[in-house]
Amino acid sequence: MHLSWLLRHAIYPIKMTNTKTYNNLNHTESVPHEVAEFNKILQNLDKLNFKQKERHKKRGKLLTKERIDLLVDSHTPFIELSALAAYGQYKDSFPSAGIITGIGVIEGRETMIIANDATTKGGTYVKETIKKHLRAQEIASENNLACVYLVDSGGIFLPEQANVFPDKDDFGRIFYNQARMSAAGIPQISIVMGSCTAGGAYIPAMSEETIIVKNQGTIFLGGPPLVKAATGEDVTAEELGGGKMHTSQSGVADHLADDDHHAIEICRDIFKSLPIPEKENFLKEEAKPTGFAPEDIYEEIPSAGHQQKDVRKLIQHLTDEAKFSEFKADYGSTLVTGYASINGNKVGILANNGILFSESAQKGAHFIQLCNNRNLPMIFLQNIAGFMVGKAYEKQGIAKDGAKMVNALANSKVPFFTIMIGGSYGAGNYAMGGRAFGPRLLLSWPNSSISVMGPQQAADVLATVKIDQAKSLGTEISEEELENMKQQTKAGFEKEASPYYATSRLWDDGIIDPANTRTILSIGLSIAQNKQNNSSSYGIFRM
Ligand code: COA
Repeated sequence: MHLSWLLRHAIYPIKMTNTKTYNNLNHTESVPHEVAEFNKILQNLDKLNFKQKERHKKRGKLLTKERIDLLVDSHTPFIELSALAAYGQYKDSFPSAGIITGIGVIEGRETMIIANDATTKGGTYVKETIKKHLRAQEIASENNLACVYLVDSGGIFLPEQANVFPDKDDFGRIFYNQARMSAAGIPQISIVMGSCTAGGAYIPAMSEETIIVKNQGTIFLGGPPLVKAATGEDVTAEELGGGKMHTSQSGVADHLADDDHHAIEICRDIFKSLPIPEKENFLKEEAKPTGFAPEDIYEEIPSAGHQQKDVRKLIQHLTDEAKFSEFKADYGSTLVTGYASINGNKVGILANNGILFSESAQKGAHFIQLCNNRNLPMIFLQNIAGFMVGKAYEKQGIAKDGAKMVNALANSKVPFFTIMIGGSYGAGNYAMGGRAFGPRLLLSWPNSSISVMGPQQAADVLATVKIDQAKSLGTEISEEELENMKQQTKAGFEKEASPYYATSRLWDDGIIDPANTRTILSIGLSIAQNKQNNSSSYGIFRM
Protein backbone atom coordinates (compact mmCIF):
# COMPACT_ATOMS: atom_id res chain seq x y z
CA MET A 1 0.00 0.00 0.00
CA HIS A 2 1.42 3.38 -0.95
CA LEU A 3 0.78 5.56 2.01
CA SER A 4 2.83 8.31 0.36
CA TRP A 5 0.08 8.38 -2.22
CA LEU A 6 -2.89 7.17 -0.29
CA LEU A 7 -2.62 9.37 2.78
CA ARG A 8 -2.61 12.40 0.60
CA HIS A 9 -3.05 15.44 2.71
CA ALA A 10 -4.75 15.06 6.03
CA ILE A 11 -6.87 12.26 7.34
CA TYR A 12 -10.59 11.73 6.96
CA PRO A 13 -12.37 10.36 8.92
CA ILE A 14 -9.54 10.02 11.41
CA LYS A 15 -7.31 12.62 12.97
CA MET A 16 -3.58 12.65 12.43
CA THR A 17 -2.08 11.68 15.72
CA ASN A 18 1.33 13.23 15.19
CA THR A 19 3.06 15.62 12.86
CA LYS A 20 5.41 13.12 11.27
CA THR A 21 4.99 12.36 7.62
CA TYR A 22 3.46 9.03 6.68
CA ASN A 23 5.60 8.81 3.58
CA ASN A 24 7.22 5.47 4.30
CA LEU A 25 9.92 6.08 1.73
CA ASN A 26 11.47 8.71 3.97
CA HIS A 27 12.59 6.40 6.71
CA THR A 28 15.10 4.30 4.82
CA GLU A 29 17.81 4.48 7.49
CA SER A 30 15.76 3.13 10.36
CA VAL A 31 13.56 0.84 8.29
CA PRO A 32 13.95 -2.91 8.83
CA HIS A 33 15.13 -4.71 5.70
CA GLU A 34 11.75 -6.41 5.08
CA VAL A 35 9.98 -3.03 5.03
CA ALA A 36 12.69 -1.47 2.85
CA GLU A 37 12.34 -4.35 0.38
CA PHE A 38 8.57 -3.91 0.33
CA ASN A 39 8.90 -0.18 -0.41
CA LYS A 40 11.31 -0.93 -3.23
CA ILE A 41 8.92 -3.44 -4.79
CA LEU A 42 6.11 -0.85 -4.68
CA GLN A 43 8.33 1.80 -6.25
CA ASN A 44 9.33 -0.57 -9.06
CA LEU A 45 5.70 -1.45 -9.68
CA ASP A 46 4.96 2.13 -10.65
CA LYS A 47 7.77 2.09 -13.21
CA LEU A 48 6.31 -0.85 -15.17
CA ASN A 49 4.43 -0.40 -18.46
CA PHE A 50 6.14 2.90 -19.15
CA LYS A 51 5.52 2.80 -22.93
CA GLN A 52 1.88 1.85 -22.50
CA LYS A 53 1.43 4.73 -20.08
CA GLU A 54 2.93 7.19 -22.55
CA ARG A 55 0.60 5.93 -25.30
CA HIS A 56 -2.35 6.18 -22.92
CA LYS A 57 -1.53 9.81 -22.04
CA LYS A 58 -1.06 10.73 -25.72
CA ARG A 59 -4.65 9.64 -26.26
CA GLY A 60 -5.70 12.39 -23.86
CA LYS A 61 -6.54 9.93 -21.08
CA LEU A 62 -5.59 10.23 -17.42
CA LEU A 63 -3.71 7.40 -15.73
CA THR A 64 -5.74 5.27 -13.32
CA LYS A 65 -4.24 6.79 -10.16
CA GLU A 66 -4.70 10.31 -11.55
CA ARG A 67 -8.37 9.52 -12.10
CA ILE A 68 -8.73 8.29 -8.52
CA ASP A 69 -6.88 11.31 -7.15
CA LEU A 70 -9.38 13.62 -8.85
CA LEU A 71 -12.37 11.55 -7.86
CA VAL A 72 -11.83 11.47 -4.10
CA ASP A 73 -12.26 14.47 -1.81
CA SER A 74 -9.10 16.46 -1.31
CA HIS A 75 -7.54 16.10 2.15
CA THR A 76 -8.71 12.52 2.38
CA PRO A 77 -6.81 9.24 2.27
CA PHE A 78 -7.25 6.46 -0.25
CA ILE A 79 -6.55 2.96 1.03
CA GLU A 80 -5.28 0.93 -1.87
CA LEU A 81 -6.00 -2.79 -1.58
CA SER A 82 -3.86 -5.66 -2.85
CA ALA A 83 -1.37 -3.50 -4.78
CA LEU A 84 0.78 -6.60 -5.31
CA ALA A 85 -1.94 -8.86 -6.70
CA ALA A 86 -0.49 -11.14 -9.43
CA TYR A 87 3.02 -10.15 -8.32
CA GLY A 88 5.59 -12.67 -9.61
CA GLN A 89 3.05 -14.30 -11.93
CA TYR A 90 2.41 -13.96 -15.70
CA LYS A 91 6.07 -12.90 -16.09
CA ASP A 92 5.06 -9.79 -14.14
CA SER A 93 3.01 -8.50 -17.08
CA PHE A 94 -0.03 -7.83 -14.85
CA PRO A 95 1.13 -5.28 -12.24
CA SER A 96 -1.54 -5.01 -9.52
CA ALA A 97 -3.47 -7.54 -11.64
CA GLY A 98 -4.40 -4.67 -13.99
CA ILE A 99 -6.91 -3.12 -11.63
CA ILE A 100 -6.74 -0.66 -8.74
CA THR A 101 -9.21 -1.06 -5.92
CA GLY A 102 -9.47 0.84 -2.71
CA ILE A 103 -11.46 2.80 -0.19
CA GLY A 104 -11.81 6.55 -0.60
CA VAL A 105 -14.19 9.34 0.30
CA ILE A 106 -16.33 11.12 -2.33
CA GLU A 107 -18.49 14.06 -1.24
CA GLY A 108 -18.16 12.80 2.32
CA ARG A 109 -19.35 9.27 1.53
CA GLU A 110 -17.03 6.31 2.08
CA THR A 111 -16.74 4.56 -1.26
CA MET A 112 -15.12 1.57 -2.91
CA ILE A 113 -13.37 2.54 -6.12
CA ILE A 114 -12.71 -0.20 -8.68
CA ALA A 115 -10.62 1.11 -11.57
CA ASN A 116 -9.26 -0.79 -14.58
CA ASP A 117 -5.72 -0.02 -15.65
CA ALA A 118 -5.88 0.07 -19.45
CA THR A 119 -2.07 0.22 -19.65
CA THR A 120 -1.90 -3.39 -18.43
CA LYS A 121 -2.88 -5.65 -21.34
CA GLY A 122 -5.75 -3.37 -22.29
CA GLY A 123 -7.21 -3.58 -18.75
CA THR A 124 -8.14 -7.22 -19.30
CA TYR A 125 -8.97 -9.70 -16.53
CA VAL A 126 -6.95 -12.68 -15.36
CA LYS A 127 -7.91 -14.80 -12.35
CA GLU A 128 -6.35 -12.38 -9.84
CA THR A 129 -8.09 -9.40 -11.46
CA ILE A 130 -11.41 -11.12 -10.90
CA LYS A 131 -10.54 -12.07 -7.31
CA LYS A 132 -9.51 -8.49 -6.59
CA HIS A 133 -12.63 -7.04 -8.19
CA LEU A 134 -14.91 -9.45 -6.30
CA ARG A 135 -13.13 -8.91 -2.98
CA ALA A 136 -13.54 -5.13 -3.40
CA GLN A 137 -17.26 -5.67 -3.98
CA GLU A 138 -17.43 -7.92 -0.92
CA ILE A 139 -15.80 -5.24 1.25
CA ALA A 140 -18.22 -2.68 -0.21
CA SER A 141 -21.18 -4.90 0.52
CA GLU A 142 -20.15 -5.68 4.13
CA ASN A 143 -19.39 -2.05 4.96
CA ASN A 144 -22.09 -0.29 2.95
CA LEU A 145 -19.63 1.50 0.68
CA ALA A 146 -20.96 3.05 -2.53
CA CYS A 147 -19.20 1.59 -5.59
CA VAL A 148 -17.65 3.55 -8.42
CA TYR A 149 -16.34 1.60 -11.40
CA LEU A 150 -13.82 3.41 -13.62
CA VAL A 151 -14.15 1.18 -16.66
CA ASP A 152 -11.39 0.93 -19.24
CA SER A 153 -11.08 -2.74 -20.09
CA GLY A 154 -10.99 -5.21 -22.96
CA GLY A 155 -12.86 -7.72 -20.76
CA ILE A 156 -11.48 -11.19 -20.30
CA PHE A 157 -7.80 -11.84 -21.09
CA LEU A 158 -8.65 -14.43 -23.70
CA PRO A 159 -5.76 -16.89 -23.23
CA GLU A 160 -6.89 -17.27 -19.58
CA GLN A 161 -10.62 -17.51 -20.29
CA ALA A 162 -10.99 -20.94 -18.65
CA ASN A 163 -9.75 -19.44 -15.35
CA VAL A 164 -11.86 -16.33 -15.60
CA PHE A 165 -15.18 -16.95 -17.29
CA PRO A 166 -17.22 -19.95 -16.20
CA ASP A 167 -17.14 -20.59 -12.46
CA LYS A 168 -19.24 -19.18 -9.63
CA ASP A 169 -16.65 -16.69 -8.46
CA ASP A 170 -15.64 -15.65 -11.98
CA PHE A 171 -16.52 -12.75 -14.26
CA GLY A 172 -20.29 -13.17 -14.03
CA ARG A 173 -20.22 -12.73 -10.27
CA ILE A 174 -19.31 -9.05 -10.76
CA PHE A 175 -22.74 -8.36 -12.30
CA TYR A 176 -24.57 -10.51 -9.78
CA ASN A 177 -22.92 -8.49 -7.00
CA GLN A 178 -23.88 -5.20 -8.66
CA ALA A 179 -27.53 -6.22 -8.80
CA ARG A 180 -27.54 -7.48 -5.20
CA MET A 181 -25.82 -4.37 -3.87
CA SER A 182 -28.15 -2.08 -5.76
CA ALA A 183 -31.08 -3.97 -4.23
CA ALA A 184 -29.48 -3.47 -0.80
CA GLY A 185 -29.39 0.29 -1.40
CA ILE A 186 -25.63 0.41 -2.08
CA PRO A 187 -25.15 2.83 -4.99
CA GLN A 188 -23.50 1.52 -8.17
CA ILE A 189 -22.02 4.18 -10.46
CA SER A 190 -19.89 3.65 -13.59
CA ILE A 191 -17.70 5.95 -15.60
CA VAL A 192 -16.82 4.47 -18.97
CA MET A 193 -13.43 5.96 -19.83
CA GLY A 194 -12.32 3.49 -22.47
CA SER A 195 -13.23 0.13 -23.84
CA CYS A 196 -16.03 -1.84 -22.27
CA THR A 197 -16.40 -4.95 -24.35
CA ALA A 198 -18.48 -8.13 -24.30
CA GLY A 199 -19.27 -9.24 -20.71
CA GLY A 200 -17.62 -6.04 -19.50
CA ALA A 201 -20.46 -4.08 -21.10
CA TYR A 202 -22.63 -5.28 -18.25
CA ILE A 203 -20.67 -3.23 -15.71
CA PRO A 204 -22.13 0.09 -16.93
CA ALA A 205 -25.36 -1.59 -17.99
CA MET A 206 -25.91 -2.91 -14.45
CA SER A 207 -25.01 0.41 -12.85
CA GLU A 208 -27.61 2.77 -11.45
CA GLU A 209 -26.07 5.77 -13.21
CA THR A 210 -23.47 5.67 -15.96
CA ILE A 211 -21.26 8.38 -17.38
CA ILE A 212 -19.40 7.88 -20.66
CA VAL A 213 -16.57 9.93 -22.16
CA LYS A 214 -17.21 11.26 -25.68
CA ASN A 215 -15.03 9.78 -28.48
CA GLN A 216 -13.21 7.64 -25.92
CA GLY A 217 -15.57 5.35 -24.05
CA THR A 218 -17.25 2.50 -25.92
CA ILE A 219 -19.73 -0.11 -24.77
CA PHE A 220 -20.64 -3.08 -26.92
CA LEU A 221 -21.29 -6.80 -26.62
CA GLY A 222 -19.23 -7.48 -29.76
CA GLY A 223 -16.61 -5.10 -31.19
CA PRO A 224 -16.30 -4.12 -34.88
CA PRO A 225 -14.15 -7.15 -35.85
CA LEU A 226 -16.68 -9.55 -34.33
CA VAL A 227 -19.60 -7.75 -36.00
CA LYS A 228 -17.80 -7.93 -39.35
CA ALA A 229 -17.16 -11.65 -38.89
CA ALA A 230 -20.68 -12.41 -37.67
CA THR A 231 -22.81 -10.22 -39.93
CA GLY A 232 -20.48 -8.72 -42.55
CA GLU A 233 -21.42 -5.23 -41.33
CA ASP A 234 -18.66 -2.56 -41.45
CA VAL A 235 -18.95 -0.29 -38.47
CA THR A 236 -16.66 1.95 -36.43
CA ALA A 237 -16.29 1.52 -32.66
CA GLU A 238 -17.82 4.96 -32.10
CA GLU A 239 -20.90 4.15 -34.24
CA LEU A 240 -21.30 0.79 -32.57
CA GLY A 241 -20.93 1.80 -28.95
CA GLY A 242 -19.78 5.40 -28.57
CA GLY A 243 -20.96 7.84 -25.94
CA LYS A 244 -23.19 9.92 -28.20
CA MET A 245 -25.15 6.90 -29.38
CA HIS A 246 -25.50 5.40 -25.90
CA THR A 247 -26.64 8.63 -24.23
CA SER A 248 -29.06 9.66 -27.01
CA GLN A 249 -30.31 6.41 -28.53
CA SER A 250 -29.71 3.18 -26.62
CA GLY A 251 -29.96 4.62 -23.09
CA VAL A 252 -27.15 2.30 -21.94
CA ALA A 253 -25.42 5.41 -20.49
CA ASP A 254 -26.94 8.50 -18.91
CA HIS A 255 -24.37 11.29 -19.02
CA LEU A 256 -22.04 12.32 -21.85
CA ALA A 257 -18.72 13.77 -20.68
CA ASP A 258 -16.22 15.73 -22.76
CA ASP A 259 -13.15 14.11 -21.20
CA ASP A 260 -11.91 12.30 -18.08
CA HIS A 261 -11.96 15.47 -15.96
CA HIS A 262 -15.53 16.27 -16.94
CA ALA A 263 -16.65 12.66 -16.30
CA ILE A 264 -15.19 12.74 -12.81
CA GLU A 265 -16.92 16.07 -12.12
CA ILE A 266 -20.26 14.56 -13.15
CA CYS A 267 -19.64 11.57 -10.90
CA ARG A 268 -18.84 13.79 -7.92
CA ASP A 269 -22.03 15.70 -8.67
CA ILE A 270 -24.06 12.47 -8.58
CA PHE A 271 -22.59 11.76 -5.15
CA LYS A 272 -24.16 14.98 -3.83
CA SER A 273 -27.52 13.24 -4.11
CA LEU A 274 -26.46 10.02 -2.38
CA PRO A 275 -27.49 9.54 1.23
CA ILE A 276 -24.64 8.98 3.70
CA PRO A 277 -25.21 5.85 5.81
CA GLU A 278 -25.97 6.18 9.50
CA LYS A 279 -23.29 4.90 11.86
CA GLU A 280 -23.57 2.00 14.31
CA ASN A 281 -23.52 2.78 18.00
CA PHE A 282 -20.16 1.27 18.80
CA LEU A 283 -18.53 2.49 22.00
CA LYS A 284 -16.46 5.59 21.35
CA GLU A 285 -14.43 8.11 23.23
CA GLU A 286 -12.25 11.06 22.27
CA ALA A 287 -9.39 10.03 19.99
CA LYS A 288 -5.95 10.40 21.55
CA PRO A 289 -2.49 9.84 20.04
CA THR A 290 -0.40 6.81 20.98
CA GLY A 291 2.52 8.93 22.10
CA PHE A 292 4.83 7.17 19.65
CA ALA A 293 5.94 8.07 16.14
CA PRO A 294 4.37 5.53 13.72
CA GLU A 295 7.73 4.11 12.67
CA ASP A 296 8.69 3.38 16.29
CA ILE A 297 6.63 0.23 15.81
CA TYR A 298 9.49 -1.21 13.73
CA GLU A 299 11.25 -2.01 17.02
CA GLU A 300 8.47 -4.44 17.85
CA ILE A 301 8.28 -6.37 14.56
CA PRO A 302 8.59 -10.06 15.46
CA SER A 303 11.54 -11.66 13.73
CA ALA A 304 11.63 -15.33 12.80
CA GLY A 305 14.06 -17.50 14.74
CA HIS A 306 14.46 -15.00 17.56
CA GLN A 307 13.05 -15.12 21.03
CA GLN A 308 9.40 -14.13 21.20
CA LYS A 309 9.03 -10.38 21.74
CA ASP A 310 6.33 -9.38 24.21
CA VAL A 311 3.38 -8.45 22.00
CA ARG A 312 2.04 -6.07 24.67
CA LYS A 313 4.72 -3.59 23.65
CA LEU A 314 3.58 -3.78 20.04
CA ILE A 315 -0.05 -3.24 21.07
CA GLN A 316 0.92 0.04 22.74
CA HIS A 317 1.96 1.42 19.35
CA LEU A 318 -1.57 0.94 18.06
CA THR A 319 -3.71 2.17 20.95
CA ASP A 320 -4.70 5.62 22.18
CA GLU A 321 -2.28 6.82 24.84
CA ALA A 322 -0.61 3.40 24.54
CA LYS A 323 -3.26 2.10 26.96
CA PHE A 324 -4.34 -1.53 27.09
CA SER A 325 -6.58 -3.06 29.79
CA GLU A 326 -5.70 -6.69 29.87
CA PHE A 327 -8.23 -9.45 30.43
CA LYS A 328 -7.11 -12.62 32.26
CA ALA A 329 -3.47 -11.50 32.12
CA ASP A 330 -2.10 -14.45 34.09
CA TYR A 331 -4.21 -17.19 32.52
CA GLY A 332 -3.39 -18.77 29.15
CA SER A 333 -0.73 -16.09 28.77
CA THR A 334 0.38 -17.16 25.28
CA LEU A 335 -2.71 -15.35 24.05
CA VAL A 336 -2.92 -11.72 25.13
CA THR A 337 -6.46 -10.35 25.27
CA GLY A 338 -7.80 -6.99 26.38
CA TYR A 339 -9.56 -3.72 25.72
CA ALA A 340 -8.22 -0.51 24.19
CA SER A 341 -9.20 2.42 21.96
CA ILE A 342 -7.89 2.96 18.47
CA ASN A 343 -8.45 6.51 17.37
CA GLY A 344 -11.36 6.77 19.78
CA ASN A 345 -12.95 3.45 18.75
CA LYS A 346 -13.24 0.95 21.61
CA VAL A 347 -12.01 -2.47 20.54
CA GLY A 348 -11.07 -5.89 21.88
CA ILE A 349 -7.57 -7.03 20.94
CA LEU A 350 -6.38 -10.64 20.67
CA ALA A 351 -2.66 -11.10 20.08
CA ASN A 352 -0.41 -14.15 20.06
CA ASN A 353 2.43 -14.30 22.55
CA GLY A 354 3.50 -17.89 21.92
CA ILE A 355 1.95 -21.22 20.97
CA LEU A 356 -1.75 -21.70 21.67
CA PHE A 357 -2.44 -24.08 24.59
CA SER A 358 -5.83 -25.29 25.79
CA GLU A 359 -6.02 -22.48 28.34
CA SER A 360 -5.15 -19.78 25.77
CA ALA A 361 -7.74 -21.15 23.34
CA GLN A 362 -10.41 -21.20 26.06
CA LYS A 363 -9.50 -17.68 27.07
CA GLY A 364 -9.75 -16.64 23.39
CA ALA A 365 -13.22 -18.20 23.09
CA HIS A 366 -14.31 -16.44 26.30
CA PHE A 367 -12.98 -13.07 25.12
CA ILE A 368 -14.56 -13.32 21.65
CA GLN A 369 -17.91 -13.91 23.37
CA LEU A 370 -17.34 -10.89 25.61
CA CYS A 371 -16.62 -8.67 22.60
CA ASN A 372 -19.80 -9.89 20.93
CA ASN A 373 -21.79 -9.39 24.09
CA ARG A 374 -20.50 -5.81 24.40
CA ASN A 375 -20.64 -5.02 20.68
CA LEU A 376 -16.90 -4.34 20.47
CA PRO A 377 -15.08 -4.75 17.14
CA MET A 378 -12.06 -7.04 17.43
CA ILE A 379 -8.46 -6.78 16.25
CA PHE A 380 -6.44 -9.97 15.80
CA LEU A 381 -2.65 -9.66 15.76
CA GLN A 382 -1.60 -12.95 14.29
CA ASN A 383 1.82 -14.46 14.97
CA ILE A 384 1.13 -18.08 15.57
CA ALA A 385 3.24 -21.21 15.24
CA GLY A 386 0.08 -23.26 15.84
CA PHE A 387 -1.67 -25.15 18.61
CA MET A 388 0.51 -27.18 20.97
CA VAL A 389 0.98 -30.79 19.87
CA GLY A 390 1.98 -33.91 21.84
CA LYS A 391 0.48 -36.75 23.84
CA ALA A 392 -0.26 -34.80 26.99
CA TYR A 393 -2.01 -32.01 25.11
CA GLU A 394 -4.11 -34.31 22.94
CA LYS A 395 -5.13 -36.14 26.12
CA GLN A 396 -6.16 -32.84 27.64
CA GLY A 397 -8.37 -32.28 24.59
CA ILE A 398 -6.57 -29.42 22.85
CA ALA A 399 -8.55 -30.15 19.67
CA LYS A 400 -11.86 -29.42 21.38
CA ASP A 401 -10.47 -26.30 23.09
CA GLY A 402 -9.16 -24.96 19.79
CA ALA A 403 -12.56 -25.74 18.29
CA LYS A 404 -14.23 -23.58 20.95
CA MET A 405 -12.25 -20.54 19.83
CA VAL A 406 -12.85 -21.31 16.16
CA ASN A 407 -16.56 -21.79 16.87
CA ALA A 408 -16.80 -18.53 18.84
CA LEU A 409 -15.19 -16.66 15.96
CA ALA A 410 -17.20 -18.34 13.21
CA ASN A 411 -20.43 -17.24 14.89
CA SER A 412 -19.14 -13.82 15.89
CA LYS A 413 -21.39 -10.91 14.88
CA VAL A 414 -19.05 -7.98 15.51
CA PRO A 415 -16.69 -6.80 12.75
CA PHE A 416 -13.08 -7.84 13.13
CA PHE A 417 -9.74 -7.09 11.49
CA THR A 418 -6.70 -9.30 11.18
CA ILE A 419 -3.10 -8.20 10.88
CA MET A 420 -0.50 -10.83 10.06
CA ILE A 421 2.36 -9.50 12.17
CA GLY A 422 4.51 -12.65 12.00
CA GLY A 423 4.01 -16.35 11.26
CA SER A 424 0.65 -17.87 10.48
CA TYR A 425 0.81 -21.63 10.69
CA GLY A 426 -1.74 -24.40 10.95
CA ALA A 427 -5.06 -24.19 12.73
CA GLY A 428 -3.81 -21.13 14.62
CA ASN A 429 -4.55 -19.25 11.40
CA TYR A 430 -8.25 -20.12 11.73
CA ALA A 431 -8.67 -19.30 15.41
CA MET A 432 -6.85 -15.99 14.99
CA GLY A 433 -9.14 -14.51 12.34
CA GLY A 434 -7.78 -16.12 9.15
CA ARG A 435 -9.24 -15.42 5.72
CA ALA A 436 -11.79 -18.24 5.96
CA PHE A 437 -13.49 -16.56 8.92
CA GLY A 438 -14.36 -13.32 7.17
CA PRO A 439 -12.31 -10.47 8.66
CA ARG A 440 -13.48 -7.10 7.32
CA LEU A 441 -9.86 -6.51 6.27
CA LEU A 442 -6.88 -8.86 6.44
CA LEU A 443 -3.51 -7.18 6.04
CA SER A 444 0.01 -8.58 6.18
CA TRP A 445 3.27 -7.12 7.34
CA PRO A 446 6.22 -7.65 4.97
CA ASN A 447 7.94 -9.91 7.52
CA SER A 448 4.96 -12.28 7.80
CA SER A 449 4.73 -15.84 6.53
CA ILE A 450 1.82 -18.21 6.04
CA SER A 451 1.60 -21.95 5.50
CA VAL A 452 0.02 -25.04 6.95
CA MET A 453 3.23 -25.68 8.92
CA GLY A 454 6.81 -24.38 8.95
CA PRO A 455 9.15 -25.43 6.09
CA GLN A 456 11.42 -27.53 8.33
CA GLN A 457 8.49 -29.27 10.02
CA ALA A 458 6.92 -30.03 6.62
CA ALA A 459 10.21 -31.51 5.36
CA ASP A 460 10.53 -33.67 8.50
CA VAL A 461 6.90 -34.82 8.39
CA LEU A 462 7.14 -35.86 4.75
CA ALA A 463 10.45 -37.62 5.35
CA THR A 464 8.91 -39.62 8.22
CA VAL A 465 5.94 -40.56 6.02
CA LYS A 466 8.27 -41.74 3.26
CA ILE A 467 10.48 -43.76 5.67
CA ASP A 468 7.40 -45.46 7.18
CA GLN A 469 5.99 -46.14 3.72
CA ALA A 470 9.25 -47.73 2.57
CA LYS A 471 9.39 -49.86 5.74
CA SER A 472 5.87 -51.14 5.19
CA LEU A 473 6.85 -52.17 1.64
CA GLY A 474 10.03 -53.80 2.86
CA THR A 475 12.28 -51.32 1.02
CA GLU A 476 14.60 -48.50 2.09
CA ILE A 477 15.18 -44.89 1.11
CA SER A 478 18.80 -43.76 0.86
CA GLU A 479 20.05 -40.92 3.02
CA GLU A 480 20.78 -38.93 -0.12
CA GLU A 481 17.29 -39.41 -1.51
CA LEU A 482 15.83 -38.40 1.81
CA GLU A 483 17.99 -35.30 2.07
CA ASN A 484 17.05 -34.22 -1.49
CA MET A 485 13.41 -34.68 -0.72
CA LYS A 486 13.71 -32.65 2.47
CA GLN A 487 15.50 -29.82 0.69
CA GLN A 488 12.88 -29.71 -2.04
CA THR A 489 9.98 -29.67 0.40
CA LYS A 490 11.65 -27.00 2.51
CA ALA A 491 12.40 -24.80 -0.52
CA GLY A 492 8.82 -25.18 -1.80
CA PHE A 493 7.33 -24.25 1.57
CA GLU A 494 9.67 -21.29 1.98
CA LYS A 495 8.65 -19.92 -1.41
CA GLU A 496 4.95 -20.42 -0.78
CA ALA A 497 5.07 -19.05 2.78
CA SER A 498 6.31 -15.66 1.55
CA PRO A 499 3.87 -12.75 2.05
CA TYR A 500 4.46 -11.84 -1.60
CA TYR A 501 3.31 -15.28 -2.72
CA ALA A 502 0.24 -14.86 -0.50
CA THR A 503 -0.68 -11.33 -1.52
CA SER A 504 -0.14 -12.15 -5.21
CA ARG A 505 -2.95 -14.72 -4.85
CA LEU A 506 -5.25 -12.45 -2.85
CA TRP A 507 -4.98 -14.43 0.39
CA ASP A 508 -4.94 -11.02 2.05
CA ASP A 509 -6.07 -7.48 1.23
CA GLY A 510 -2.52 -6.29 0.81
CA ILE A 511 0.85 -5.98 2.46
CA ILE A 512 1.22 -2.85 4.56
CA ASP A 513 4.08 -0.94 6.10
CA PRO A 514 3.78 -1.71 9.84
CA ALA A 515 4.05 2.03 10.52
CA ASN A 516 0.66 2.50 8.85
CA THR A 517 -1.20 -0.18 10.78
CA ARG A 518 -2.96 2.16 13.21
CA THR A 519 -4.10 4.50 10.45
CA ILE A 520 -5.47 1.70 8.31
CA LEU A 521 -7.22 0.08 11.30
CA SER A 522 -8.79 3.45 12.11
CA ILE A 523 -10.21 3.72 8.61
CA GLY A 524 -11.37 0.10 8.76
CA LEU A 525 -13.14 0.78 12.06
CA SER A 526 -14.84 3.80 10.50
CA ILE A 527 -16.25 1.95 7.49
CA ALA A 528 -17.32 -1.00 9.64
CA GLN A 529 -19.70 1.35 11.46
CA ASN A 530 -21.76 2.12 8.36
CA LYS A 531 -25.24 0.75 9.01
CA GLN A 532 -26.82 -1.35 6.29
CA ASN A 533 -29.76 0.26 4.49
CA ASN A 534 -33.31 -0.94 4.65
CA SER A 535 -33.18 -2.66 1.33
CA SER A 536 -35.77 -2.99 -1.36
CA SER A 537 -36.04 -6.38 -3.04
CA TYR A 538 -34.73 -5.30 -6.45
CA GLY A 539 -31.84 -3.25 -7.70
CA ILE A 540 -32.36 -0.36 -10.11
CA PHE A 541 -33.21 -1.54 -13.63
CA ARG A 542 -31.74 0.53 -16.46
CA MET A 543 -34.60 1.69 -18.73
N1 COA B 1 -7.35 -10.80 -24.42
C1 COA B 1 -6.02 -10.91 -24.42
N2 COA B 1 -5.19 -9.89 -24.69
C2 COA B 1 -5.75 -8.72 -24.99
C3 COA B 1 -7.14 -8.53 -25.04
C4 COA B 1 -7.95 -9.63 -24.72
N3 COA B 1 -9.28 -9.54 -24.64
N4 COA B 1 -7.40 -7.26 -25.34
C5 COA B 1 -6.20 -6.66 -25.48
N5 COA B 1 -5.21 -7.54 -25.28
C6 COA B 1 -3.76 -7.28 -25.24
C7 COA B 1 -3.16 -6.99 -26.62
O1 COA B 1 -2.82 -8.17 -27.27
C8 COA B 1 -1.94 -6.18 -26.21
O2 COA B 1 -0.97 -7.08 -25.70
P1 COA B 1 0.61 -6.75 -25.78
O3 COA B 1 0.85 -5.59 -24.90
O4 COA B 1 1.27 -7.99 -25.29
O5 COA B 1 0.90 -6.44 -27.22
C9 COA B 1 -2.44 -5.37 -25.02
O6 COA B 1 -3.54 -6.10 -24.51
C10 COA B 1 -2.89 -3.97 -25.39
O7 COA B 1 -3.81 -4.07 -26.48
P2 COA B 1 -3.90 -2.95 -27.62
O8 COA B 1 -4.95 -3.39 -28.57
O9 COA B 1 -2.55 -2.66 -28.17
O10 COA B 1 -4.35 -1.71 -26.75
P3 COA B 1 -5.40 -0.58 -27.08
O11 COA B 1 -5.39 0.32 -25.91
O12 COA B 1 -5.18 0.01 -28.41
O13 COA B 1 -6.82 -1.34 -27.13
C11 COA B 1 -8.59 -2.73 -26.36
C12 COA B 1 -7.30 -1.99 -26.00
C13 COA B 1 -9.01 -3.52 -25.12
C14 COA B 1 -9.66 -1.72 -26.73
C15 COA B 1 -8.36 -3.66 -27.59
O14 COA B 1 -7.17 -4.41 -27.39
C16 COA B 1 -9.48 -4.63 -27.83
O15 COA B 1 -10.47 -4.27 -28.42
N6 COA B 1 -9.34 -5.89 -27.36
C17 COA B 1 -10.32 -6.93 -27.59
C18 COA B 1 -11.45 -6.81 -26.62
C19 COA B 1 -12.41 -7.95 -26.74
O16 COA B 1 -12.90 -8.28 -27.79
N7 COA B 1 -12.67 -8.59 -25.59
C20 COA B 1 -13.58 -9.66 -25.50
C21 COA B 1 -13.30 -10.32 -24.21
S1 COA B 1 -14.69 -11.20 -23.65
